[in-house]
Amino acid sequence: MVISENIVKMLAQKRNLTDDEFVALIESAEYDDLLFAESDRARRAVYADEVYIRGLIEFTNYCKNDCYYCGIRKGNKDAVRYRLDKQEILECCREGYALGFRTFVLQGGEDPYFTDAIFCDIISAIRSEFPDCAITLSVGEKQRKSYQAYFDAGANRYLLRHETADAAHYCRLHPECMSLENRKRCLFDLKDIGYQVGSGFMVGSPYQTSRNLVADLRFLQELEPDMIGIGPYITHAATPFRNEKNGGLELTLRMIAILRLMFPYALIPATTALGTIAPDGRERGLKAGANVVMPNLSPVRVRRLYELYENKICTGEEAAQCRGCLERRVESAGYKIVTSVGNVRR
Ligand code: 5AD
Ligand code: FES
Repeated sequence: MVISENIVKMLAQKRNLTDDEFVALIESAEYDDLLFAESDRARRAVYADEVYIRGLIEFTNYCKNDCYYCGIRKGNKDAVRYRLDKQEILECCREGYALGFRTFVLQGGEDPYFTDAIFCDIISAIRSEFPDCAITLSVGEKQRKSYQAYFDAGANRYLLRHETADAAHYCRLHPECMSLENRKRCLFDLKDIGYQVGSGFMVGSPYQTSRNLVADLRFLQELEPDMIGIGPYITHAATPFRNEKNGGLELTLRMIAILRLMFPYALIPATTALGTIAPDGRERGLKAGANVVMPNLSPVRVRRLYELYENKICTGEEAAQCRGCLERRVESAGYKIVTSVGNVRR
């Protein structure tokens, strides 16, 4: 398919393209400058130059799943496992609050230790100590009643990337016991319960095609999430994908820009994975349309252990203050960090 510059204008106006047009745009680097200029305009129209910060607390790296791409998969017997207790998690929140965070993201593997009762107790404790903050959960696939219990305990947002919206591709990234169908069920349950929901996918994961990426865009049109997290796939030596290539920076930036034009209201992070494949990856993500950053609030002693992929940034002593580091980075990109709960503007 032959495309011209008009395709970017068309996407900006209609917030949509045909499948073939999307494939052509995804595969062409030619329009990137124009695409980024348009996506920045769309982002500024809704969010001005504001960038929201979310304090990420990686509270357990135990996981019962065995996803082929992930460094903390249960099959990785070399992983040193840890979990934070309630007091340690609250301590992270207190430090974060003092630094200006008004959203805490509790992310972890699917760790059976955290039963609904234990997890709800932690959520309620955060809710009562920080009534003016948003509590975001990212703990994987659960039963609807568990999601409801967390919500009732005070959680208000949930991140669950669909990873890939193509069922055959999904099977190539996950063991047989996991299904795209259940993942989708979770996302619609979360929305129905009343969470602000985030989904997303990895860019350049093994076997991914441009058509798969179009399927991801189509699924997001159906879900209409408030938050969309994407980042490059990055290989990890202790996984079956150890010999696979990393996802590309350029393609990830192009996908961020396309998402911004399709979903002008969305909260889109410049992810840690993006900052890992290029030193200025997150700054470039912001310029391509991202408007959220998620500095690490986990205790420094466990940061290296939450290793989803190799060479993850922000894991050393020097990174104890990601907040300050990111403030400078965001400013250098031409935006400003704001201290607010940072709800979606739809
Ligand atoms: N490279 C990049 N991203 C990864 N994730 C998991 N493993 C990797 C990897 N090897 C992403 C998944 C998951 C999120 C928490 O991290 O998309 O949803
Ligand atoms: Fe973590 Fe820069 S953001 S060290």
